Amino acid sequence: MAKIGIFVGTIYGNALAVAEEAQQILGQQGHEVEIYEDATLEQWQMYQQQIVLVVTSTTGQGDLPDNIQPLYTEISDNLGYQPGLRYGLIALGDSSYDTFCGGGRAFDKLLQEQGAKRIGDVLLIDAIDVVEPEVFAQNWIEEWGSLL
Ligand SMILES: Cc1cc2nc3c(=O)[nH]c(=O)nc-3n(C[C@H](O)[C@H](O)[C@H](O)COP(=O)(O)O)c2cc1C
Repeated sequence: MAKIGIFVGTIYGNALAVAEEAQQILGQQGHEVEIYEDATLEQWQMYQQQIVLVVTSTTGQGDLPDNIQPLYTEISDNLGYQPGLRYGLIALGDSSYDTFCGGGRAFDKLLQEQGAKRIGDVLLIDAIDVVEPEVFAQNWIEEWGSLL
């Protein structure tokens, strides 16, 4: 079973609710799961040869929330290449914005550029259609966990 770090970017708590749902489902599957808000680069690097799940909303105009933006910048500035990392990505947003899920998409692009291997497709959750994102995400999380 896998060791998984869930890295959360949230303003109002929706992404955190999805992360907590993921922790429960993945834990039931037998994985060892920890959630990080306001994560440091050291915490990210503990998973360099393991698995991370990034769960982030978008704010501003396609921006990452303040609690995950510093981590993104540190990864971008300091890491360069992460070929041993496997990851999944859940992006929350609102399709009335041109920059739909821009924060999550930017994080995915960075990890792709750094050679990390994504497991599964990115899950996009649109606040216009979805009232309970943590319920909406359940099937995706179960499938993702079974791919690890
Ligand atoms: C001020 C503000 C700016 C936002 N900007 C965007 C955006 O640029 N793109 C997008 O897809 N969603 C945007 N959203 C929508 C949020 O990402 C969405 O409501 C999400 O579910 C919030 O999750 P959270 O509670 O984890 O922060 C914005 C929301 C607010 C309140």
